[in-house]
Amino acid sequence: MIIAVDGPAASGKGTIARALARHYGLPHLDTGLLYRAVAASVLREGLAPEQEDDAVSACGFDDALLADPWLRTDEVGQIASIVSAHPLVRAALLQRQKAFAHQPGGAVLDGRDIGTVIAPDADVKLFIKATPTIRAQRRHLELRKNGVGSSLDKVLADIRARDERDSQRSEAPLVQAEDAAALDTSFLSIDAAVQRAIELVERRRAAR
Ligand code: DC
Repeated sequence: MIIAVDGPAASGKGTIARALARHYGLPHLDTGLLYRAVAASVLREGLAPEQEDDAVSACGFDDALLADPWLRTDEVGQIASIVSAHPLVRAALLQRQKAFAHQPGGAVLDGRDIGTVIAPDADVKLFIKATPTIRAQRRHLELRKNGVGSSLDKVLADIRARDERDSQRSEAPLVQAEDAAALDTSFLSIDAAVQRAIELVERRRAAR
């Protein structure tokens, strides 16, 4: 079974994808981390994220980089959103994601284009959303917990900028697949959101 989990930043898609992977005993890939690794390499090498050839040259990153906590920062997330708009960067990361999705036994992947580009044939597609304000509040709380000081207004502005960039790009934009089930986590606890996601997966499976 392939489960595709897409949605904007801080929607809860990562938490839900990890919980589904655990529940169904499937391997999980956080595809945003791949774009974050490209972004981190670009920054580390002093390259220009807006330059497609610079960003492409950073796609051969060492996998050890994927475990670096720095990748999960907002600084790297914003740059990831910039490098991910380049078609050649997406092309460079495509096969790896497709192979992960189509491994024997199935997988759970989360990102922006799993249900539309990476695995249009996924058995179950979920599109996770939440209002920008609520996503900003969650991210703000998480940053504070990690000792990172940032105003709520700044976090909200960053989220809006990333939404805009991720949805407006020409190549594989963030968009709900036609056959995806939407799950709004705005007013759900983590446990309730995960429970609802499992129900949606079960309903989709039963309907197949
Ligand atoms: O999910 P995330 O916040 O870790 O993703 C970081 C950036 O990577 C996001 O702003 C856009 C890009 N991304 C993408 O273009 N396609 C994906 N499948 C996953 C992430």
